[in-house]
Amino acid sequence: MRLNRSFQLIPSIMLVMTLAQSHAFAQENPEAGGANRCQEALAANAALNDDWAGALSRLASRKLHEATHRNDAAPGVVIASPSRANPDYYYHWTRDAALTMATIHRQYLVETNPDAKRSLRNTLMDFSRLSRGHQQTPTRGGMGEPKFHVDGRAYDEDWGRPQNDGPALRAITLIEFARTLLREGEGELVRSFFYDGKIPTASVIKADLEFTAHHWREPNFDLWEEVLGDHFYTRMVQRKALVLGAEFARELGDHGAADWYASQAQALSAEIERHWNADLGLIMPTLNLRGGVDYKHSHLDTAVLLGALHGDAGDGFMTVHDPRIKATMDRIEGKFREIYPINHRPEIPGVAIGRYPEDKYAGNDFNGGNPWVLLTVAYAEAYYQMAQKTNDRELRTQHFQRAESFMERVRFHANPDGTLSEQMNRHTGFMMSAHDLTWNYSALLDALRFRVR
Ligand code: NOJ
Ligand code: NOJ
Repeated sequence: MRLNRSFQLIPSIMLVMTLAQSHAFAQENPEAGGANRCQEALAANAALNDDWAGALSRLASRKLHEATHRNDAAPGVVIASPSRANPDYYYHWTRDAALTMATIHRQYLVETNPDAKRSLRNTLMDFSRLSRGHQQTPTRGGMGEPKFHVDGRAYDEDWGRPQNDGPALRAITLIEFARTLLREGEGELVRSFFYDGKIPTASVIKADLEFTAHHWREPNFDLWEEVLGDHFYTRMVQRKALVLGAEFARELGDHGAADWYASQAQALSAEIERHWNADLGLIMPTLNLRGGVDYKHSHLDTAVLLGALHGDAGDGFMTVHDPRIKATMDRIEGKFREIYPINHRPEIPGVAIGRYPEDKYAGNDFNGGNPWVLLTVAYAEAYYQMAQKTNDRELRTQHFQRAESFMERVRFHANPDGTLSEQMNRHTGFMMSAHDLTWNYSALLDALRFRVR
């Protein structure tokens, strides 16, 4: 085995190298690969920087700022990655952008420096206005259009569309932001621009809620943009949008709409329950497959975990504490442990997690799927949440350590400067596909907020 052999060739001096040096080594010797950075190097790095979580947060915050402040992009745009080729991710994806802006809103809530706070508020306002513009732009995917050019124009090439998680995620983020604005005394702005309670509506949140409430039964493309059908992930975030939407509409006195959103959320819950497959012992990512990729025979997909995380409506429905989610997570982790060579190296902590076992998408080509940073981080977030929830001290420590191991895995494969690409090569661990994926940094900040010892 090439990897093992090159590992044995590493001189013992390697064992005392700092992580920075070992990165340099790994880069000059791509044959040796990221996998060959030894555990001692990781330990050395931890000793050098025991505030890794703080350093990572600062890096992630800086990257979110960069992704939302581009000279060539319209205000409010979030680039998915600065990568303009192989793959070209220099677009505003509705999903990535909504998730990122939810993170930015949480930063806004805790920011104490007035200038920084004002700047975050401007970013959120720009995003809100851009979103309204997108809703009114004629596109091939209608409200479920998955991505836009960075100047705000519609993208009109062929694509897996519509993707109906987009309007739901956008509604979730904007409801959270609008609630903050209400607390800040911006009632007028909220009732005119964000939620006007009218039909037809001229307001951004109401438009997404109306769309979601009326169209959630329609088959659409999944978050991986490959499969046409009914998806657990999409339904979970649609449900959350409608649960929050019902509360928000009620707060604003729109009681008829509140009842309607609540009834649709309930109907969605019943459909979501059907995704549990007791025979297989897992939650099915897709039901009623209508088209697109048809080789996902294992029915294991980390989209299910993301559904539990992003679809957590605060009412206990299908959260990471649900044994069905945990059972699905365990099956997925076990499978990736088995099929990715990079997971066969006991000296690297944690497990690297991919999208689904049959995945072929590698960014530049379709020669085989790899583990993804944001999905490995999703496992960390789930375990941090479990640690926080339990009163059993021993279990708490166990969950916390599991969470840390997924974080360590990501740090282990990070670039020397800490930056993170979409994927980690399944053989070598090296960062690959889109560099500086914005969603990675948002996912990291989301996970770290549950990291409480
Ligand atoms: C690009 C998408 O973003 C990715 O998820 C997908 O696997 C490929 N296109 C193939 O559809
Ligand atoms: C491909 C992923 O499959 C999709 O979920 C994401 O929205 C785009 N890349 C952009 O990051």
